[in-house]
This record gives sequence, structure tokens and C-alpha cells, in this order.
Amino acid sequence: MTATSQEPKTATKSKRKKAKGFEPRIVAFCCNWCSYAGADLAGTSRMQMPPNVRIIRVNCTGRIDPSFILDALNQGADGVLISGCHPGDCHYSTGNLKMQARFALLQKMVESAGLEPERIRLQWASAAEGDVFTEGVKTMVETVKRLGPNPAGESD
Ligand code: FES
Repeated sequence: MTATSQEPKTATKSKRKKAKGFEPRIVAFCCNWCSYAGADLAGTSRMQMPPNVRIIRVNCTGRIDPSFILDALNQGADGVLISGCHPGDCHYSTGNLKMQARFALLQKMVESAGLEPERIRLQWASAAEGDVFTEGVKTMVETVKRLGPNPAGESD
């Protein structure tokens, strides 16, 4: 048996998809008050953004239950972006700080599920920062392209 034939099936499939030009599926949870408006501004300003992202609007990043992130990954998202108001600007006072505190734990949970913690990203982008939101999406797409497909999302 060769070393290649001993590789897990998912790793082999990941390499195959990478070779074909892997385009990651990114789910972005954006707070209504800042980042969603920032994403909207990016669109209306015609900023160039990779088409890989699907945005889910939430009232506040503090409302994002960790299970939302894990479910997205389990259902095939290759990466999850969480984007909210800058610290001090949260419309619910400290929701973003609660998310920030959860994020380290979330990364550990993702890692213990056998995935790279870099598949999730937390960023702050205000309603006036369409460029910041766009750069965050680009960074996320590049990072996940390097990691390859989420094995949980691959199907035959
Ligand atoms: S309202 Fe934007 S992070 Fe809380």
C-alpha cells in the first residue's frame, strides 16, 4: 500500500477540488446596524468583492449562538465570517464584546471538530466601512482557498 492510498478519502477529494479551481462557500453573519450596512455600501459603491459570500443578517453579533457557526460548517460552508460593530459602537452596548469573548472558544470547538480554526473569522466593520468589509471577505476567501474545501461539505 502506498502512502497516497492511505490518505483519508476527504484529503484526496480536497486535493482534487483544489486542482480544479476550488471556490469556497463563505457564510457571513453580519450585524444589522454596522456590517450589514457596510456590506450594502460596498455593493452600492461597486467595490470588487468575491462572489463567494452569502450574508445572513442578525441584529447583533452578540445574538449569534455558537451553534449557528457549527451548523453552517456542518452543512457545508467552507468558512464563516462574523462581522459586527467596532467595540464601543454596538447598538446593544456589549453584544460584540460578548461575541469576541466567545470567539476563542468557538475556534477551539471548530478545531476539536477536526477543522482548521482559520475557517472562522471575526472582524469589525462600520456602516461607513464598505472597504473594510470587502477586504475582510477577500482575506477570508484567500485563507479558505489555501485550506481547501471543508471535508464536511464534500459530496460525491
Ligand atoms: S449591534 Fe452590531 S455588533 Fe452589536
